[in-house]
Amino acid sequence: MARPVPAIRSLYVCQQCGTTSPKWAGQCPSCEAWNTLVETVVTRAPPSAAARARARGAGGNGAAAVSPIGDVSSAEAARLASGIGELDRVLGGGLVPGSIVLFGGDPGIGKSTLLLQLAASLARAGSSVLYISGEESSSQVRGRAERVGAVVDGVGLVATTDLATAIGAIEALAPGLAVVDSVQTMVSADLGGPGGSVGQVREVATRLAEVAKAGATCVALIGHVTKEGTVAGPRTLEHLVDAVIYLEGERLGTTRLLRAAKNRFGSTDEVGVLEMRADGLVEVPDASRFFLESEQPPVAGSAVTITLEGSRPLAVEIQALVAPAGYGSPRRATTGIDVNRVLMLIAVLARHAGLNLIGHDVYVNVAGGLQIGEPAADLAVAAALASSLRERPVREGTVLAGELSLSGRLRPVARAERRLAEAARLGFTRLITGPERGGSTIKHRPQGSETVAATDLREALRLALVEG
Ligand code: TYD
Ligand code: MG
Repeated sequence: MARPVPAIRSLYVCQQCGTTSPKWAGQCPSCEAWNTLVETVVTRAPPSAAARARARGAGGNGAAAVSPIGDVSSAEAARLASGIGELDRVLGGGLVPGSIVLFGGDPGIGKSTLLLQLAASLARAGSSVLYISGEESSSQVRGRAERVGAVVDGVGLVATTDLATAIGAIEALAPGLAVVDSVQTMVSADLGGPGGSVGQVREVATRLAEVAKAGATCVALIGHVTKEGTVAGPRTLEHLVDAVIYLEGERLGTTRLLRAAKNRFGSTDEVGVLEMRADGLVEVPDASRFFLESEQPPVAGSAVTITLEGSRPLAVEIQALVAPAGYGSPRRATTGIDVNRVLMLIAVLARHAGLNLIGHDVYVNVAGGLQIGEPAADLAVAAALASSLRERPVREGTVLAGELSLSGRLRPVARAERRLAEAARLGFTRLITGPERGGSTIKHRPQGSETVAATDLREALRLALVEG
């Protein structure tokens, strides 16, 4: 007997109260929240013969097959190393077959470039890869592949925006990796909404996750982050995928950071550092040295801090320029650090170190295009500002790490030991920091390097700057 064709394929479901509605409305008829109705598939096509066979194999009648935990094979053994060390570091050792990973980032940051390089790298190692492009034609993808040296046998291209076609291609080829570029361009015919809408994006990710789980293919999904947050972006998808990796950086700069926001198969602490060149993204072998532009002997207006990006210590140079302001309110401009944090530090310097910057323009720059969010950078920023104002450089071989409170006191930094070790590795001999946290002391002090604890800003600056 033929199955009846489902009459309703999709409904609008309120994301707040769960009320369903047959048509879209700006306001939920039940809970009266605005813009919460999202189109969602409610009846799917009947399951394929293969899916029915899998269900029977699993016990039939919906009963799940239970395996003793010792008999289940671990995903760990089968990881597919990408061959791009900085990416493997962030993934936790490589791609896990049967998983789905979302690569998010601003438009133009280099997502397509990275995934094409990953595709080529895996293909060179003998895996088959399918690159599904909904954004660009096959010849455009080929053009980029020539530029980055990714024209490799074993990479197949499909240009489509139709989700069913994309899934058909993955099922037919069963590649080791399938790249879907991008989630916003794929359209499921089961939904009426346009590509990129919240409903579409969720449906595309859900279906691709099912395809990944059903076999050994790893699906890499590209998603654009949108500034407004109105168009569906990676944030909507975080819970639907196994891992979320963000590619970050200033669009005009060349540094790119890889960061895991979620990782079911590894830690989210690691960062990868890459550089965008004319022939694609290249790994930065000694990332810490990369962010140091410091000249020896040091010049006024520069201070080095050791920031912990995840669990990875990076030496970063903070540059400050303080100059008498003209008429009107003085300018305060920053790159790589929150301007409000710098405004706070300017106030703390005035109040607690007797350094008045009220009549000065202030510019602060983090070298190398890194974005610092860690308050442990406070002391280095304050030292760079003081150094520029007084025209006295920071002593040679000195790094600073410490969070400043509004009262001008220094707080202890987390993991001072790791910071000191990294500083020593780069040839710094002295770390000026806050008082040590409740009794905990630095256990492994690298030879020839010392930690100097200061209690407040005034004392730290006296220790840091050369005498005038
Ligand atoms: P792309 O990978 O297309 O970004 P996304 O997919 O995230 O939108 O890369 C976009 C930018 O990168 C583009 O402005 C040019 C630059 N680029 C390079 O500098 N070198 C290269 O080898 C490539 C391929 C791109
Ligand atoms: Mg792209």
